[in-house]
Amino acid sequence: MSVILSVENVTKTYDSGFEALKGVDLQIDEGEILALLGPNGAGKTTLISTICGITTPSSGRITVAGHDILSDYRQARRIIGLVPQELSLEPFEKVINTVRLSRGLFGKGRDEAYIEKILRQLSLWDKRNAKVMELSGGMKRRVLIAKALSHEPRVLFLDEPTAGVDVELRKDMWQVVEELKSNGVTIILTTHYIEEAEAIADRVGVINQGRILLVEPKVDLMQRMGRKQLTIELQDPVTDVPDSLKDYDLRASDDGNALIYCYDSNGPRTGITTLLADLQKAGLHMTDIQTHQSSLEEIFVDLVKETA
Ligand SMILES: Nc1ncnc2c1ncn2[C@@H]1O[C@H](COP(=O)(O)OP(=O)(O)OP(=O)(O)O)[C@@H](O)[C@H]1O
Ligand SMILES: [Mg+2]
Repeated sequence: MSVILSVENVTKTYDSGFEALKGVDLQIDEGEILALLGPNGAGKTTLISTICGITTPSSGRITVAGHDILSDYRQARRIIGLVPQELSLEPFEKVINTVRLSRGLFGKGRDEAYIEKILRQLSLWDKRNAKVMELSGGMKRRVLIAKALSHEPRVLFLDEPTAGVDVELRKDMWQVVEELKSNGVTIILTTHYIEEAEAIADRVGVINQGRILLVEPKVDLMQRMGRKQLTIELQDPVTDVPDSLKDYDLRASDDGNALIYCYDSNGPRTGITTLLADLQKAGLHMTDIQTHQSSLEEIFVDLVKETA
């Protein structure tokens, strides 16, 4: 797969002196969906704005399909569609006109069939002659997406596309994103809904305080989520894991009242049956057992806490 977006060691210090990006590296393959997660103020919108040329980077290099966003701005910008975090629409304009206008702004010729296709895809065709101000919040967000798609971009940025959108609409939006992907569009979205990343992303990136902490294929993260913990509470406390049980991924709890066993719930065998038998052989008596599965949310919260 070829790299369509390359961000190399990008920093951004605002005029206020605030350092919002501290050396960001990111490579995105053509056709993938990347979900960028991070707490409020992490730098997600700053990164997207920098890539899209709304703000300029303080240092570093960004290319889109090989075009440098500074020296080759027009070519680079033409490839990009942006759905901004803030709703910014012309309230009195008809839906279809605002989408046509956006296309025109990018110097693309009229293509009514294409406009109809995206309005239908976003379930806005019935509302095409309504004024923007007559739409609900979720519909307005769809209009923003239609505008961002109006010039047929190859890379689409969605900055919190489903903020304030109800569950059903959110799922519709996921479907739209999947369809765009199947048409070859590369998608980078930010979200505060971890299940959104789980549902649609190929890779998940985590950013905090202007630094990318991790970018990993979702399946790898899911596999980590598949890690489960079994807590075995003991009748008599131990100071360490007995020698006969050293082959297990096992540790004693801080107070010694429990043994904690980590296993892969996706694997063919969990090893629990033999462990419990071996515990008995070692003369340990248990009073209770509990299982716990780490979620993407916990992985995310832990990561962000570590770097706070
Ligand atoms: N124009 C600006 N001037 C100065 N500081 C700014 C400006 N825009 C953003 N910042 C600061 O940069 C940091 C990152 O902001 P940014 O909007 O990129 O965060 P975010 O990750 O998108 O957060 P959210 O999840 O709330 O949208 C914040 O501390 C913010 O206050
Ligand atoms: Mg933001």
